[in-house]
Order: sequence, then C-alpha cells, then structure tokens
Amino acid sequence: MPRLVVTNREGTTSEISVDDGLTVMEAIRDNGFDELLALCGGCCSCATCHIHVDPAFADKLPTMSEDEDDLLESSDHRAPTSRLSCQIPFTAELDGLHITIAPED
Ligand code: FES
Repeated sequence: MPRLVVTNREGTTSEISVDDGLTVMEAIRDNGFDELLALCGGCCSCATCHIHVDPAFADKLPTMSEDEDDLLESSDHRAPTSRLSCQIPFTAELDGLHITIAPED
C-alpha cells in the first residue's frame, strides 16, 4: 500500500498506509487526524481539508480546479504549496507524499 506522511498542527510527523481509491483527505481523516475537519465531506465547498504539500510532488498532483483555487483564496494560510486534500486522489504514484495540515482559519 502506498504511504502518506502526515505532519499535524503540533508538528508531529507520522506515516500511514493508504487503501486504494481514497483521497488524501479520506486517508488523513480515516487515520484519526481529527483536526482535519473536512466538513463538506469532499465536495469542494468548505476548505477545511486544507493542506500544504511537499513541493517535490507538485508535478504529480492533479491540476487545481477553479473552485479549489477560489476556496483556497479564502484562507489566511494559503501558500504556493496549498491544496484541498479532498481534491487529490491518492495513487501509487504519490507513494511517500509528505503533507502538512494547514493551520485552522
Ligand atoms: S472536504 Fe470540504 S473542501 Fe475538501
């Protein structure tokens, strides 16, 4: 199973293994990271699944939609590495992806 490396808001980093077919948001949430609220359940309308992604993986990520871009614009913690984790299907190609959960808005 591909591995996802998660740094939480306290700065603690851990590694999880991810089942096929999950998004990065589902993988984080299903592994007990309650601080990632994902309030809309992944339909790209809340921005509470905001993460920062290791730039080394930038060219392996799906292109950002206009909706995702607009939602991220509403965050005070937007950075060039910002993404909404519900918009990233976690595939074997992303094995070892390191993400950091963005601070709460
Ligand atoms: S879970 Fe709401 S935008 Fe990602």
